[in-house]
Amino acid sequence: MASYEYETHEYDVVVVGAGGAGLRATLGMAEQGLRTACVTKVFPTRSHTVAAQGGIAASLSNMGPDHWQWHMYDTVKGSDWLGDTDAMEYLAREAPKAVYELEHYGVPFSRTEEGKIYQRPFGGHTTEFGEGPAVQRTCAAADRTGHAILHTLYGQSLKNNAEFYIEYFAIDLIMSEDGACTGVVCWKLDDGTMYVFNAKMVVLATGGYGRAYFSATSAHTCTGDGGGMVARAGLALQDMEFVQFHPTGIYGSGCLITEGARGEGGYLTNSEGERFMERYAPQYKDLAPRDYVSRSMTMEIREGRGVGAEGDHIHLNLSHLPAEALAERLPGISESAKIFAGVDVTKEPIPVLPTVHYNMGGIPTNYWGEVINPTDSDPHAIVPGLMAVGEAGCASVHGANRLGSNSLIDLVVFGRAAAIRAGKVVDAEAPNPSLNKASIDAAFDRFDALRHADGTIPTAELRLEMQKTMQSDAAVFRTSKTLAEGVEKMTAIAGKMDDLKVTDRSLVWNSDLMETLELTNLMPNAMATILGAEARKESRGAHAHEDFTERDDEKWRVHTVAHVDGAGVKLSYRPVITDPLTTEQEGGIELKRIAPKARTF
Ligand code: FUM
Repeated sequence: MASYEYETHEYDVVVVGAGGAGLRATLGMAEQGLRTACVTKVFPTRSHTVAAQGGIAASLSNMGPDHWQWHMYDTVKGSDWLGDTDAMEYLAREAPKAVYELEHYGVPFSRTEEGKIYQRPFGGHTTEFGEGPAVQRTCAAADRTGHAILHTLYGQSLKNNAEFYIEYFAIDLIMSEDGACTGVVCWKLDDGTMYVFNAKMVVLATGGYGRAYFSATSAHTCTGDGGGMVARAGLALQDMEFVQFHPTGIYGSGCLITEGARGEGGYLTNSEGERFMERYAPQYKDLAPRDYVSRSMTMEIREGRGVGAEGDHIHLNLSHLPAEALAERLPGISESAKIFAGVDVTKEPIPVLPTVHYNMGGIPTNYWGEVINPTDSDPHAIVPGLMAVGEAGCASVHGANRLGSNSLIDLVVFGRAAAIRAGKVVDAEAPNPSLNKASIDAAFDRFDALRHADGTIPTAELRLEMQKTMQSDAAVFRTSKTLAEGVEKMTAIAGKMDDLKVTDRSLVWNSDLMETLELTNLMPNAMATILGAEARKESRGAHAHEDFTERDDEKWRVHTVAHVDGAGVKLSYRPVITDPLTTEQEGGIELKRIAPKARTF
């Protein structure tokens, strides 16, 4: 057994991750006087939320009529009827409140002439339950909205005495013998000290796992650390087959060009200069949801109408927009286009390609953020002491496809919800739960085995094999053949985890070991994704299956539940929640409005 000395620290709540969801949860917990620590592997304002550009959705009606029920309807339809209805109602209803709170905390939103929060159109956001024109619902701070939110929430958290443990890597959850979470084991990256955080509530806010793919808009830190820890604790992952491709990653680098660019009037063209989205989505055109636009672009390329020497990408045109509007509303992407594509957006189109951007799936939770480990007898069974929020979690509001700008609002609505819930279930006066030594020992044993791994495959080599396989076999379009091949290849790749070679054995700034730990997190996420995709014999949202082209609500309107153990994945299914939080009589949405129907735009 490995022997590591460690410091033990007790808190009411420990939040792992300091992106938008982690910081909003941290702030909400600390505001209520709960002793709160936030543990993060990167400096808080470098978390991936900082890269969120276009904005945050809320029906404020600042730029024209809007209603929370229209937002809810769009989210239900956007999810291709796989989202949980109670959570989607909660999101749309609470969104305006959550955004005004951000405003009062100090987020520097862009403003209208009258001084209200500026809102822009985004894909799939409409009026009149999808019958009316596109709505301006996405609240923006130019094209640096995530940056503005993150800096504000970090400052507010410090003001409320939340304690930060920065550049600490979470190795594993500490689980009691009866299945409650009581803390997390961490490694302090800059000096090698080991920490045991003992908490009454652990909140996983570790973000997505975009880096399971070769080309992603996600930061290199997006390695699904929460999902990895949960899988190792024997808990479930949900709906992992639904991976969002953002239509406009810069060709080559994958760097994000915000959907706000199309919201401000940009449009896509093929090699014939045609605005092809008019053919695929006659009503909303370039502002159709992301799965729709990404598929349309891919079809144009496949049919020989891609641009560039190899006909393998598409053009995003902004040069018809006034230069002042580009400078005021889209300064960040104007700079990115120059740096990463060598393009002056006032003169030339940006070369773009659908790029992995977001994971709809994650750690299953209810709409309070409490983690669920579904069993046959109780599909909604709660794991005591454990919450998950943000992209790491799956509430599930995005179902099979997320609408643009519903991510930032998910972060703050559910970060806030977790804090509200913790205020009720965490007793600040009670002693901390006792720690299960066997669980701590297991975490150190695993850490030590990886630290001294002496196999034949360097971490970077195996990671690349995984990324390339996921990129080609769990892509925008999938077939029975590519998915079966993907399962076979990924099973072999996961099987090689026992043959990893780590060269650096030190404990201080050991990026070789940290990347290896990250790979052990990416792998279960990737396995659940490819296995879940292979099993789902229908097309829904981002899962476009060419051998099963229709959505099959009778058989497949269910959440995929994956338990991953090494190279083995056990799949089961749990029902989608179809009841909203409130009835029509209580002011809720009319049920017939959100009944499943064909999804056209
Ligand atoms: O296009 C964007 O600005 C991304 C926003 C989002 O993913 O919600």
